[in-house]
Amino acid sequence: MTDPQIIALHGTAMSVVLERAGNDAPVWRHWGARIASMPLPLADGRSRTTFALDIDQPPAVVPTFGNGGFGPSALLAHRDGCDFVQQFDTSDIEPTVNGVTIHLHDSVARLTLEQSLTIDPASDVLTLSARLTNTGDTPLDLLWLAAGTLPLAPDSAAIHSFTGRHNAEFVATIEPMPKQRWRRENRRGLTGHAGPPGVFVATDGATMHQGAVFAAQLAWSGNHLIEVARSDDGDWTLMLGEWLAPGEIRLAPGESYRTPDVLATWSVAGHNGATQNFHAAVRARGPWAKGQMPPRKVHINSWEGFYFDHDAAQVMALADRAAALGVERFVLDDGWFKGRCDDRRALGDWTPDPVKYPDGLGPLAAHVSGLGMDFGLWVEPEMVNSDSDLYRAHPEWALAIDGRTPPTARHQLVLDLGREAVRDHLFAALDRLLTDLPIAYLKWDHNRDLAPAGGGDGRAGYHAQVLGTYALIDRLRTAHPDVEIEACAGGGGRIDAGIATRTHRFWTSDNIDAVSRTDIQRGYLAFMPPERMGSHVGTTPAHATGRSQSMAFRCATALTGHFGVELDPATLSTTDAATLTEWMGHYKALRETLHNGRVWRGSGCDGLLWQAHGEPSDMVLLVTRLAPPTLGRPQPLRLPMLADVASLRVTLLAVAAATIRTPHQMPLFAAMRDEGVDFGGDWLANVGLPIPALQGESAALFQLRR
Ligand code: DGJ
Repeated sequence: MTDPQIIALHGTAMSVVLERAGNDAPVWRHWGARIASMPLPLADGRSRTTFALDIDQPPAVVPTFGNGGFGPSALLAHRDGCDFVQQFDTSDIEPTVNGVTIHLHDSVARLTLEQSLTIDPASDVLTLSARLTNTGDTPLDLLWLAAGTLPLAPDSAAIHSFTGRHNAEFVATIEPMPKQRWRRENRRGLTGHAGPPGVFVATDGATMHQGAVFAAQLAWSGNHLIEVARSDDGDWTLMLGEWLAPGEIRLAPGESYRTPDVLATWSVAGHNGATQNFHAAVRARGPWAKGQMPPRKVHINSWEGFYFDHDAAQVMALADRAAALGVERFVLDDGWFKGRCDDRRALGDWTPDPVKYPDGLGPLAAHVSGLGMDFGLWVEPEMVNSDSDLYRAHPEWALAIDGRTPPTARHQLVLDLGREAVRDHLFAALDRLLTDLPIAYLKWDHNRDLAPAGGGDGRAGYHAQVLGTYALIDRLRTAHPDVEIEACAGGGGRIDAGIATRTHRFWTSDNIDAVSRTDIQRGYLAFMPPERMGSHVGTTPAHATGRSQSMAFRCATALTGHFGVELDPATLSTTDAATLTEWMGHYKALRETLHNGRVWRGSGCDGLLWQAHGEPSDMVLLVTRLAPPTLGRPQPLRLPMLADVASLRVTLLAVAAATIRTPHQMPLFAAMRDEGVDFGGDWLANVGLPIPALQGESAALFQLRR
C-alpha cells in the first residue's frame, strides 16, 4: 500500500484494489488480474450522469441503503422502524496478514461494521466476511448483511450455477447475465442438494481452460442468498451472505452478528483455473489432524447392501468379504441402534439395538479392526423420531412453533441445536460411543430440511442451528481429534466450505448410478477437491435409477474420488469381483496423484468427457463416454494444460467397458498398454491424444508422466 488513498491486495495472479472514499466505505476499483500499477483517483475520470444526486456513490465495498445508494445494499437494518438509513462517518483501515479489516462506523444509526478482506497468495482466493455491532442503546433488527460485495467485469457474459434435488445433485445451469438481477435464495436451513452456495461468472469467450472467470462460494451450511445485480449506471455487483428469516437477528445493545466467510477467486485459466483455486483454498482450511491428509482409505458402506436389516453374524461376514477384496474401512450405516427397524423410529436413541447386537457393537468393531480395517459408524445427531425415548423424555427439544404442528420428513423432526442442553446431550451420547468403541469414522447424516426452525423463544432459529451443529462437531473433534467425519445429508445436501473445515469427506449423492454420477461428480468438483468426494461402486441395477452399468464402468466412475463400495460382495459374480479388485488396485496405486494435485475437467469431440488429476508432469487422465458414439472414429482429445510440457509418456492403464472390442488391440494402444508411448506436450495440447474407440458407458484410464 503506497498511495494512502489506495488499498491494494495482491495474490499470485489476482489483485484487489480499493480506493478510500472520505469517511465512507472504500469503493471498488478492481478485482481481477494482478495489477502492479495503481489507478488515478476515481473522481478524476468518473463521468456524471443526469437525474442523479449531487453526491456521487460509486460501487462501495459495503454499499448501504437510504442515503443515495439505489443499487443492491450490503446492509439492511432498522431500529424499531427508524435508523433504516445507514451511512458511515468514519472508516479506518487496519492492515492484517495478507489483508485488511475496514472498520466503519455510523454514529447516526449507531452501528459499526467491520469488513475483512484477506487474499491467500497460494490459492489466489480472497476471503471476505463482515461483522455488524449494535453500538446504540436499543435493539437493532438486522434483515441482511452481505459477507462480501464484489465487482464483476463489464464483459461478464454468463452465470454458471447449479440446481439439484435428492438423487440429482449439481445440475449445471448456464444463464446469460440478467438485465437487472439474478438471485439464488435457499431457505431450507441446510446447504441443499444444488451444492455449495456458489456461482461462477464467465466473461465473454471464457471456456473451461482459458479466459477470465470470477467465482465465489459461501462457507455456510444453512440459508443463503447469492445475487448478481446490475446498477442503472452499468456496474455489476456480486453479493453473497446468509439469508435471514424475518426477525431472526435482533442485536441487543453491544451485540454483534458475524457473517460466514465468502471465498472468492478469479482466474484467467477459465473455469478450471477458478476451480483449482477453490480446491487449494478448501484444502488450506483443514480439517486434517496433524495437518496432513492420510491416504484416503477404500470404504465399504453397509447401507445399500443391508439397509435396516442388520444381523450381527451377517454384518461380520460382510466385513470378512470386504477385507478379502482389499477394503480398508468398514462403515456400519443406519439400522444399528435401539429399535431402528425402519425409518419411522428410534432416531435420538444412540445405543446399539439389543436384538440385532445382543453384545453391543464391541464384538463387531473388534472383528473389523482384527481384519485390519477401520470401523466407522453412521449417526444422524440432529434428528429425532417422535417414536424414540429421547422424544418421549424431551418433546420440547424439537424445533417447532407453539400452536403449529411441525411437518415431519422421513418421519423425523429436527432437534434444536441452538439449545445448550441439546448440544450437551448429543455430545455425551456421541462421546460415549467414540470412547467405548474403536470408532475411527463417523458418517454424519441429516435427512431433512428445517421446517419450521422455530427456537424455544418462538423466533427463527436457522442461524443458531448451523452454529449449534458446528459447535457440536468442533467439540467432538477436540475430544476425538483422530476421528474422521463424513458430511452427508440425504447424499449431497450439505456440501459446502463451512462444514468442510470440520469434516473429512462428503457423501456426494445417494444416486450411485455411474451415468448420473458422472455429471454429479463433475459439478461437485467445481467447488470441492476430489479427495473429499465420496464415490462408491454400487450394485446393479442402481437402486436410485434402476439402470445397469458394467462393473468396470462403475469402478472407473468412482475411481477419481474417495473410492468405496456400497454392495455386498457375496452378490458379485467371480468376474465382477475380479474387476472390482483390479480397479481397487488402480485406486490404491493412483490415489496419491488423484488426490494431491490439481483437477482439470474438459470435453472432447462427440460427447467425450475427461478429467485429469495431478500436475502436468505426472497425471491421471480419465476419459468417459456416456452415450454411444455418433462418429465412426474417435477424434483425438486435446489437453490444453500440457502445452508447455516437453514430452510425456502416456500409458493406457485400463479400458472400462461392458465388452472390449478389437480397436483396443491396435498397435498404438497395445504399445500404450505395454511400455507406454511418448508424446510432445504441444502435440497433446494442440493436436490431441489418440483415444481408443469407446462404447457408450465406458471409460479409458491413462497415466501421463514425464
Ligand atoms: C441417507 C444417506 O445419504 C444414505 O447413504 C444412508 O446413510 C441413509 N440416509 C440412511 O438412513
